[in-house]
Amino acid sequence: MSFKIPMTRTLLGMAVGLALSVGPLTAQAQSDDDVTMGFIVKKPEQAWFINEQDAATKLGEEKGFEVVRLSGEDGQQVLSAIDNLHSQGAQGFVICPPDVRLGPAIMHRAKQYGMKVVTVDDRFVGTDGEPMENVPHLGMSGYKIGQQVGNAIAAEMERRGWDPENVAALRITNYELPTAKARTDGATDALLESGFKKDNIFDAPQQNTDTSSAFAAASPVFAKRGDFEHWVIYALNEESVLGGVRASEQYGLSADQVIGVGINGSGAAFAEFSREKPTGFHGTVAVSSTMHGRQSAANLYKWITEGEKPPANTETTGTLMTRDNWKDVREELGL
Ligand code: GLA
Repeated sequence: MSFKIPMTRTLLGMAVGLALSVGPLTAQAQSDDDVTMGFIVKKPEQAWFINEQDAATKLGEEKGFEVVRLSGEDGQQVLSAIDNLHSQGAQGFVICPPDVRLGPAIMHRAKQYGMKVVTVDDRFVGTDGEPMENVPHLGMSGYKIGQQVGNAIAAEMERRGWDPENVAALRITNYELPTAKARTDGATDALLESGFKKDNIFDAPQQNTDTSSAFAAASPVFAKRGDFEHWVIYALNEESVLGGVRASEQYGLSADQVIGVGINGSGAAFAEFSREKPTGFHGTVAVSSTMHGRQSAANLYKWITEGEKPPANTETTGTLMTRDNWKDVREELGL
């Protein structure tokens, strides 16, 4: 669920209210062997986020710190999670927020508790609409990874001998999330460079970043553009591309009429590649969620124990995974 600006203001107001009611709060005392951190994610049921939390927990076991895994599926849940962490004596948290515009409210609450915050995947946006540069972030280089998606689609179109004149694109968009826009923009630009027809690109704006919201957005587009026999599908992640592929199947398109390429390389893609027969889900650009979880937790741990603030922005890269190579890439990326 994503909030509009007024809700962010409401949450900020609540955070201010809390500060007034409980008075000034101080940071917890800390020593190297007494570190607790939260790992809050927007979609706790998705394989990508389960893997990130697993990797952070594992690092904690190795280094001797505790990781508290929490869900933050909306603003209320995130603020409760932060309160919960404070009561457990946590010195900070890693977060992939449910809405990037909650950044100021989240930082406000964290500051009251003296907690350090790093973002992973989705970067906070300030009240000025710009990324909050002072909160260390680790995430995908969205535009470049999007270009990889576009190039992979173009290569597969060529392999299948499709004439771009007669191919439509289902672009599942989420323009409220900057990394999502960067990814679909990168894919679009790469496709156009390969000779794809701009007029053949159709938007399906999704409400969320999951399969069901993508399915709901995609279905009417196929129904409206039944004149196209060949479709390519892309989105910010593979969960959403899978929603598009499922909608294409429901509409009656077969696997050889569809080329869907996602992003992530998580359990959702592995399950699809493991099916006996190929589907329209051709591939996905895999990024190491293991590395995202581990590195963001390591950065926060170092900040807590050594006072070294992590880099403002770390951008990670991806590798194309298809039915042919997915097991190798999975192993290579430690997934
Ligand atoms: C966003 C998406 C996730 C995943 C991460 C990776 O949060 O919703 O599916 O792609 O980015 O950074």
